[in-house]
Amino acid sequence: MLSINISLTPENFKSFSHIDNPIVVVVDILRATSVISTAFHYGIKEIIPVSTLENAKTFLNKENHIVAAERNAQPLKDFDYGNSPFQYMNNNIKGKTLVLTTTNGTKAINLASNYDIITASFINVKSITEYLITSNRNIIILCSGWKGVFNLEDSIFSGLLCENILSSGKYASNCDSILASTYLYQLSKDDIFTFLSNSAHRIRLKHLNMEKDTEFCLNPSIESDIIPQLVGNKLISVY
Ligand code: MLT
Repeated sequence: MLSINISLTPENFKSFSHIDNPIVVVVDILRATSVISTAFHYGIKEIIPVSTLENAKTFLNKENHIVAAERNAQPLKDFDYGNSPFQYMNNNIKGKTLVLTTTNGTKAINLASNYDIITASFINVKSITEYLITSNRNIIILCSGWKGVFNLEDSIFSGLLCENILSSGKYASNCDSILASTYLYQLSKDDIFTFLSNSAHRIRLKHLNMEKDTEFCLNPSIESDIIPQLVGNKLISVY
């Protein structure tokens, strides 16, 4: 049987180093991997996830590049975009390269960059499920969390993805993080937005008048079959 595990925080990821040749699925529902799925859906050519603002700044004013930065959920001046999915719902991004740095999500991608990485969100969860079930590879879902600590939204999404994968009968797990995540998904699936009313990042985004971002990322109005895969230092569209 193949294995599936969830690293509930990036700090926990090193505990899965014994897993043989896994695919790593990076999740940052609010909002980095939702933004990544949205940008590809609206035609971005490729995405360069960078961990530092200094690195991102080196791409400013480069032809056909959009440079986006977020820290503590807020966009930063001097950059083209922030990390709201709504900023990417336009034709201006078609065919361009997005350089993206966020508080947690892009750091998680770079933490796992020695592995085969794909990124997942509610927007592309169906195609991610099909891709993983047919991959015949062990799977580690890497939750980005918030500054090294657990968050509910990434764990709930991971519970949905695990339910889908385990229902194939090809995978097994003895990892309590999967039990916890699938319980959380079962408890919240009818209305995740309300279930997260008191969650740290929903409150953080609400205080910044970004509730609509949270609503969209949890119940997206778009669906994409694009699977962003890290090749070298770039996320490209596999499908
Ligand atoms: C992150 O990378 O932690 C998030 O995407 C932060 C945010 O943009 O809300």
